[in-house]
Amino acid sequence: MRDFIFNISTRIFFGKNQIIKLGDEIKKYGNKVLLVYGGGSIKKIGIYDKVTKQLKENNIEYYELSGIVPNPRLDKVKEGVKLARKEKVEFILAVGGGSVIDTAKLIAVSSLSDVDPWNIVLGKEKIQKAIPLGSVLTLSATGSEMDNDSVITNEETGQKLGWASEYARPKFAFMNPEYTYTVNSYHTAAGTADIMSHTMENYFSLNDGAFFQNREAEGILKTCLHYGPIAISDPENYEARANLMWAGSWAINGLVSGGKDVEWSVHPMEHELSAQKNITHGVGLAILTPHRLKYCLNKDTAHKIADFAYNVFDIEKSKSIILDADRGIEALKNFFIQIGIRESLSSFGFQVSDLEKMAENCIKNTNKECIRGFIDLYEEDILNIYKSAL
Ligand code: NZQ
Ligand code: ZN
Repeated sequence: MRDFIFNISTRIFFGKNQIIKLGDEIKKYGNKVLLVYGGGSIKKIGIYDKVTKQLKENNIEYYELSGIVPNPRLDKVKEGVKLARKEKVEFILAVGGGSVIDTAKLIAVSSLSDVDPWNIVLGKEKIQKAIPLGSVLTLSATGSEMDNDSVITNEETGQKLGWASEYARPKFAFMNPEYTYTVNSYHTAAGTADIMSHTMENYFSLNDGAFFQNREAEGILKTCLHYGPIAISDPENYEARANLMWAGSWAINGLVSGGKDVEWSVHPMEHELSAQKNITHGVGLAILTPHRLKYCLNKDTAHKIADFAYNVFDIEKSKSIILDADRGIEALKNFFIQIGIRESLSSFGFQVSDLEKMAENCIKNTNKECIRGFIDLYEEDILNIYKSAL
């Protein structure tokens, strides 16, 4: 196991009756807030009223930035930066899923200096300060409520890119599983797939000596297999929503990656799908992951994929670990189909002619000659994986 630092400073308020503490928590940082939210679901389901009641009762002045779309765009970040600078806001409160929180993060790090937010995403600007931010989470998926990452789409260049900074980590997250009762089955399935993908990106590495992290990862995956279908068939099942919500944070906050050599590969491949056709992130991941695993299956990797088959899907050991690994991959693919995710890229309108450019962009956007993950993936490999998922 390699050396690592684990430091999660985000304060978590988990459960049904925590929102009354929101005002006091915000006032630790300031009295002027930029409230960031999406396309209106929080108004329909009453979370907007609950949050603004807290702000009003605590005499917190607030300005609103609404209309953040899934696969959030740079134009909204720029609008938010303008507003935050003009009103000199002291705190940013994101109420929503990953798209809203990711937008709030880039506004937070861009507003206090004269920088172009896209240059921060490109790593051309050093981040030295930020407006503090917090979140009220409404969808279990990305882990953005507790991590320092953000993913933004530049609608002009057609790029969807991730960036990270410790300055972007939320100071707190209010996580009430009841707020996710209204997430429809499609986004519940996509969110479950996203949590699983984060876990698997961290899980699949070779000879890492990280026995503990790997068993934790298997626990997160089993949680998703168990509770994903329950949350879909019984959306107001508190236990299912709570387990998915908590698993989502821990899949990506460093617990299961600490001490391991991991380079994520399915995510950069997926970001090209969402950039091209605005496909839902978790759905893209679910389509690509089984194909990526099949592509990686060889005599060196088989034991790790077989571990996954035995420990996550309870597949019985046979005499061939290659066969067992393959059965694990099939089980994963069937699970995604079972929770309602379509299995091919063509069903989203992708054609063979789209794939070459996407593979090229995928490598270009990583700024490396290949993705050094579970196995090294060059442009040609990525193209092959896209083709097999078509
Ligand atoms: O816009 P509204 O009206 O709020 O509707 C949203 C949106 O349409 C809806 N929704 C959210 N909470 C709801 C709800 N509908 C009913 N009831 C609720 N309680 O769900 C839709 C999807 O929301 P979105 O925020 O886009 O979903 P998600 O949380 O999956 O975020 C996806 C984005 O996060 C990025 C993805 O690439 C994608 O852009 N990621 C961020 C990461 C991070 N920061 O660490 C890591 C991830 O790997 C991922 O890349
Ligand atoms: Zn993800």
